[in-house]
Amino acid sequence: MTSKNPSAAKTVYVGMSADLIHPGHLNILRVAASHGSVTVGLLTDQAIASYKRLPYMTFDQRCEVIEAIKGLDRVVPQETLDYVPNLRTYKPDIVVHGDDWKEGVQRKTRSRVIAALAEWGGELVEVPYTKGVSSTQLIKAVKQQGTTPGMRLGRLRRLLGAKPYLRFLEAHNGLTGLIVENARVVEGSTVKEFDGMWLSSLTDSTAKGKPDIEAVDVTSRMQTLNDIVEVTTKPIIYDGDTGGRPEHFAFTVRTLERFGISAAIIEDKIGLKRNSLLGTDVPQQQANIAEFCEKIAAGKKAQVTDDFMIVARIESLILGLGHEDAVTRAGAYIEAGADGIMIHSRSKDPDEIYRFCEAFSEFNRRVPLIVVPSSYNHVVETELAAKGVSIVIYANHLLRSAYPTMMRTAQSILEHERSLECDSELLTIKEILDLIPGTASE
Ligand code: SPV
Ligand code: MG
Repeated sequence: MTSKNPSAAKTVYVGMSADLIHPGHLNILRVAASHGSVTVGLLTDQAIASYKRLPYMTFDQRCEVIEAIKGLDRVVPQETLDYVPNLRTYKPDIVVHGDDWKEGVQRKTRSRVIAALAEWGGELVEVPYTKGVSSTQLIKAVKQQGTTPGMRLGRLRRLLGAKPYLRFLEAHNGLTGLIVENARVVEGSTVKEFDGMWLSSLTDSTAKGKPDIEAVDVTSRMQTLNDIVEVTTKPIIYDGDTGGRPEHFAFTVRTLERFGISAAIIEDKIGLKRNSLLGTDVPQQQANIAEFCEKIAAGKKAQVTDDFMIVARIESLILGLGHEDAVTRAGAYIEAGADGIMIHSRSKDPDEIYRFCEAFSEFNRRVPLIVVPSSYNHVVETELAAKGVSIVIYANHLLRSAYPTMMRTAQSILEHERSLECDSELLTIKEILDLIPGTASE
């Protein structure tokens, strides 16, 4: 990132994400170079993830591409979506940008750039939008192509590095996978999405009409995963229940890696596994620490990629065994190689989770902390993130929302001996035919 063209008369700054480079970008860079020596402010993953989806290419890959484009002077990181910190550092004579930011979400960024340039008499040059190709179109096309197992697998670690916290939602089949993939809310200049999917044992089992007691075997769980990976691109965290025997868990890890799954979470229970939300209402037994550490180590030894994560799930609070036990276990599991800790609670009050978070923040060796706020559901994500939580999992909500509607529909048909009465609650026939791309087209 050193200067190649120090003699040019004027200094020019261009901020860009440069994920999928197209002729529109090259046109902007050509115009920029015609005005003087060009500094490209390349938005970091953190800067991009602060307002939209993580780019396909890593910062280093994007940097490599930009540095290879001729006529540019240097590439520097732009750590925020806001140009002002970099502009004040480099004080360019000119900023070049596409004129499409006059409207829409980037309007505020543009005004701030103009105000900053005025501080030293700089000038904004806007290049007319290149018709016929856009990043939005390319991203749509790439999304349709899907992803590779390796790219998907590595994406969880990239997201953890790029965002203050991540939100995951349960999926239990292709359709719910698509909902997690595509659901979005636009708030001002920010797009909110789920970062990935949780392959819940509870909802996978329930959707198959079976209890959540590891009765749905790993082969069947992989079939569900297969349905989801075929139609989605976002990272997946697999609920690995107890992980089974260490020797068996080693095979599960490799299978998950082949699918491109980013992480497996295994819980420190033994015997017949029961759902954690049943707590002490049913007999449940916790594994001893040494035994569980052995399972974590077996998984770590088996994994073939660097990016796959094995997360240890602590059930001490669920089983009423207390804070100290949970903290001791967290230390031991991290020591055994766990790449993350999930602390579970079924209390309506987040106090025991917060107490754990506090103790966890004192650890010398920290790993991402994961929580599942099903019972303390009044707590908002940012509160959890402020306590040090890295991933918030909504573990069962799509299935729980689907079931009541399906039950009402079945009952309505029985009651009225026709479907007219429930029809207004349903997707129209046209909507269902249009829902999945490829259904309606020849
Ligand atoms: C699941 O979703 O299957 C989980 C989380 O393991 S919980 O149901 O809360 O135990
Ligand atoms: Mg489970």
